[in-house]
Amino acid sequence: MKKLLIANWKSHKTLSEVSAWMDSFESKFSKSLLAKHVDIAIAPTEAYLAQFSNEMHAELSLAAQDVSPFPVGKYTGATAASQLASLGVKYAIVGHSERRRYFSEDNTQVANKVRQCVEAGIIPIVCVDDEYVSTQAAAIDSEYHSKCIIAYEALSAIGSGNNMDAAHVAEVTKLINDVFGEVPVLYGGSVNAGNVAEYAEISDGWLVGTASLKVDDFWALALAVSNL
Ligand code: PGA
Repeated sequence: MKKLLIANWKSHKTLSEVSAWMDSFESKFSKSLLAKHVDIAIAPTEAYLAQFSNEMHAELSLAAQDVSPFPVGKYTGATAASQLASLGVKYAIVGHSERRRYFSEDNTQVANKVRQCVEAGIIPIVCVDDEYVSTQAAAIDSEYHSKCIIAYEALSAIGSGNNMDAAHVAEVTKLINDVFGEVPVLYGGSVNAGNVAEYAEISDGWLVGTASLKVDDFWALALAVSNL
């Protein structure tokens, strides 16, 4: 199975920066064989999803950084999963620790977001941490577990430059598979071209923040993944 690499840009980049990144990345990507070896998804700020949906290379996928816990309707400011799907969004990151921390997202909302995604045909990438994985899993209706990709996001490793020890990632990945079943499990937390090989035998892919912001860093990471 191909590894999945997701560029999570968080709240970075203006429209001109987004366009410049994409032009530069796609000119390398279209001349390469990368698509044969690695699945790449880009998660820009929601405001730029439509732009990407119109212009993106057909072999790259689009991911949303969040999704509404509600269907379409009277929910000012929210973007429903079906609206994301109509833009060609394939994945939605759900329950990222920054959403939980800064936007008070709780397990019930995460569960509702998962349901909305699955019903709209979007694959939820559910972020969990090691300490609460059982509770986080229990909150999600078990009928949806097999439809999820789970991302183990090591809190101390996110944005810190200190990636988590591979043995620990292996332990948590096993725990995740025990509670969610045999779903793909990603790792996130200071992953870059220099350390991704440590997780080659453990993870089905990686959720990448910092090392996705510069084209050269992300390109080097994608190449490293394609050589695993
Ligand atoms: P990082 O972010 O790669 O900057 O650690 C990962 C994430 O939060 O998804």
